[in-house]
Amino acid sequence: MHVPEVQAHAPETVSRQEPLLSVRHVVKTFGPVRAVDDVSLDIFPQEVVGLIGDNGAGKSTFLSLLTGYYRPDSGQFMYKGRPVTITSPRESRHNLRIEMIYQNLRLAPDLKVSDNLFLGEEPRTFGLFLDKKQMQQSSADALRKLQLKITPKDVVGKLSGGEQQAVAIGRALLFDRDIILMDEPTAAISVSKVQDVLNTIRSLKEHGKTVILVSHRLEDILEVSDRIVVFFHGRIRDVLKNERLQISDLIHLMFDSGQQDV
Ligand SMILES: Nc1ncnc2c1ncn2[C@@H]1O[C@H](COP(=O)(O)OP(=O)(O)OP(=O)(O)O)[C@@H](O)[C@H]1O
Ligand SMILES: [Mg+2]
Repeated sequence: MHVPEVQAHAPETVSRQEPLLSVRHVVKTFGPVRAVDDVSLDIFPQEVVGLIGDNGAGKSTFLSLLTGYYRPDSGQFMYKGRPVTITSPRESRHNLRIEMIYQNLRLAPDLKVSDNLFLGEEPRTFGLFLDKKQMQQSSADALRKLQLKITPKDVVGKLSGGEQQAVAIGRALLFDRDIILMDEPTAAISVSKVQDVLNTIRSLKEHGKTVILVSHRLEDILEVSDRIVVFFHGRIRDVLKNERLQISDLIHLMFDSGQQDV
């Protein structure tokens, strides 16, 4: 038949983006607890996805499945349309181009920014000697892209919480990750630095990255997210486009009163 063929080439079909990452029916239990319970979600290129939900709703566990820190009991992942298994953090970083920004940042405070950016993945000449020059140059590039005032030579321990956060995020740009996961990035920093982190998230998106942001600060979620995913008791209760949403709408969905069917 000709009709479907013509439709397949219609402009609106062509312009519609394929998901970068698809999660299908993923389950992760801890003993009797179904921390992530039959979760399916598509993640698209260059979008900011806000993940919200009450304490214990399964948000961090879901991110840990994406980083390969945990293996799911069941379910599938597809990366750019092809089935993949996420068996280790290294595989998640290298094959799926996912980078997690941890709450405790995992930075070395007494090392310089450039050393931290490359921590564990330092370029070497002849596979042997640290290529300091390349580290300096690439670090400066990544910091410039993020429009940060810090330099590769600054010592990380002397930076503010928000700036340290930005260094951690800089790694994602440096190694050309596609998806950056953040769990409560604005929880441990001063209120005045929250905007810096939110600007960094916007800037990552401008550079073509996808950001998945977990936060209890709903005003931050509303400020930067394109879509908002509501977790409830390990399940996805709703996926919303961030249009004309208010904090009260989100609170309603995060807690028991949200829907009758759970
Ligand atoms: N390592 C673990 N061992 C046992 N149970 C766990 C483990 N990690 C998480 N859980 C349980 O799984 C459920 C989901 O926890 P998770 O940390 O993913 O929630 P969360 O949405 O990130 O919560 P919060 O907003 O408080 O960070 C909770 O009931 C939690 O107690
Ligand atoms: Mg959590």
